[in-house]
Amino acid sequence: MTQAAPKQDHVLIFDTTLRDGEQSPGATMSHTEKLEIASLLDEMGVDIIEAGFPIASEGDFQAVSEIAKNSRNSVICGLARANLTDIDRCWEAVKHAARPRIHTFIGTSPLHRDITALDQDAMIARIHDTVSHARNLCDDVQWSPMDATRTEHDYLCRVVETAIKAGATTINIPDTVGYTYPRESAELIAMLLERVPGADQIIFATHCHNDLGMATANSLAAVEAGARQIECTINGLGERAGNTALEEVVMALRVRNDILPYRTGIDTTKIMGISRMVAAVSGFPVQFNKAVVGKNAFAHESGIHQDGMLKNKETFEIMRPEDVGLAATNLVMGKHSGRAALRAKLSELGYELGDNQLKDVFVRFKALADRKKEVYDDDLIALMAEASLADEDAYLQIKRLRVICGTEGPQEAELTLSIGGTEKFVDATGDGPVDATFNAVRMLFPHDARLELYQVHAVTEGTDAQATVSVRLTLDGIVFSGQSSDTDTVVASAKAYVNALNRMVLHSHRGNLSALMSSAS
Ligand code: KIV
Ligand code: ZN
Repeated sequence: MTQAAPKQDHVLIFDTTLRDGEQSPGATMSHTEKLEIASLLDEMGVDIIEAGFPIASEGDFQAVSEIAKNSRNSVICGLARANLTDIDRCWEAVKHAARPRIHTFIGTSPLHRDITALDQDAMIARIHDTVSHARNLCDDVQWSPMDATRTEHDYLCRVVETAIKAGATTINIPDTVGYTYPRESAELIAMLLERVPGADQIIFATHCHNDLGMATANSLAAVEAGARQIECTINGLGERAGNTALEEVVMALRVRNDILPYRTGIDTTKIMGISRMVAAVSGFPVQFNKAVVGKNAFAHESGIHQDGMLKNKETFEIMRPEDVGLAATNLVMGKHSGRAALRAKLSELGYELGDNQLKDVFVRFKALADRKKEVYDDDLIALMAEASLADEDAYLQIKRLRVICGTEGPQEAELTLSIGGTEKFVDATGDGPVDATFNAVRMLFPHDARLELYQVHAVTEGTDAQATVSVRLTLDGIVFSGQSSDTDTVVASAKAYVNALNRMVLHSHRGNLSALMSSAS
């Protein structure tokens, strides 16, 4: 049997960071980044990885195929609309996996039926034909009625029954627009289990978006009513306000096992590491007070809290930092710290490195420690994010940057940029050092993208703190994010800008590179 089936007291975790998560405006990930994240998800015990939407682009197809080939334990799933071409393409990509799954869907609510111009009966016929086709290719077929929570109950029962009869082994009930409420989410699953013939033979999944901030509560309510698969993403990444966050449902099931007596197969100590990795590659930093993975999730500021923590940690913590892979201490590292200490520290922080990776990170660590007396946990996390973003094959690479600034303007930036392997130099001025630097980048690599966001955060305290800079660009309605950290804010800014441009180049390579260059170039 190749399908993922939960044991009696288990809930399957279906991660869609690489599909629904990547659909977040600006969260485009490179091929290598997707492979790396898939490998971490597999390692942490995710039951099903939705690796992408193979028909969407050649890049998506290649990523899903490669992830399928490299998969070890997880089921590898691809998404397909309700047509035979999509489904065939999806199968071509996932078939390499030891345990492949095809996930096909169609919008079933009145609003979506209008868009597809299918009446109720025509849609039933389409569901029957497409699910049967998928099932002829693959033993493991998931079917979703998109916008299920706004579909008439009688019709929802009919479509679900049709998909089960056509061979679907998992029925996913999406709250596509984050509209449902926990009690309603539970009642919907209970209603389907009660009314649909064959419902006891398949697995019900819940897929919740977070538009009203209720995604996690809605997912858990669905489990209480009988759903045995939760669809989620790391850090809750996803369309609009995002999806149910993996770390939240997994830790809720663990901490409140008295109420929800179900387990997952997730190694929770890997949570922090993968959360940081996804934040770095997606360009979506985790908000400080985010449940489980936020920087402040285990920080205690007030005297009463600190006093309580010193006497008994359970006074103000319902889970231990180490349960999610966070170091219990904040041991400071410095330029005298050796390779073994760095490896141990990174392991405490949730990063397990091979010898070659450690060698590279150690060089970066030494360079940072030379500039910064004390290297804190957060500095190392920023350094790891930086290392995961560094791509020696990137189209644009900063070779040298020298900036002149002060009270007398205009400020000046001398920049050497490697563009597709050729080094170019320019001396530009601007209204401040960052403006001068960005002008220099634009002079060497003219483009039509608009700068939508420029944000600076200090990683730690002190005047020698590293700055993390986030940049967001848009071109033809598509968003490209970049992020970088450095003790020099202007260098971090330049690297973040170039990082966003490299994502734009990556995207246009799927299409046409010259299309993104401005007419001035
Ligand atoms: O939110 C949604 O409805 C989806 C479907 C494709 C499952 O992501
Ligand atoms: Zn979704």
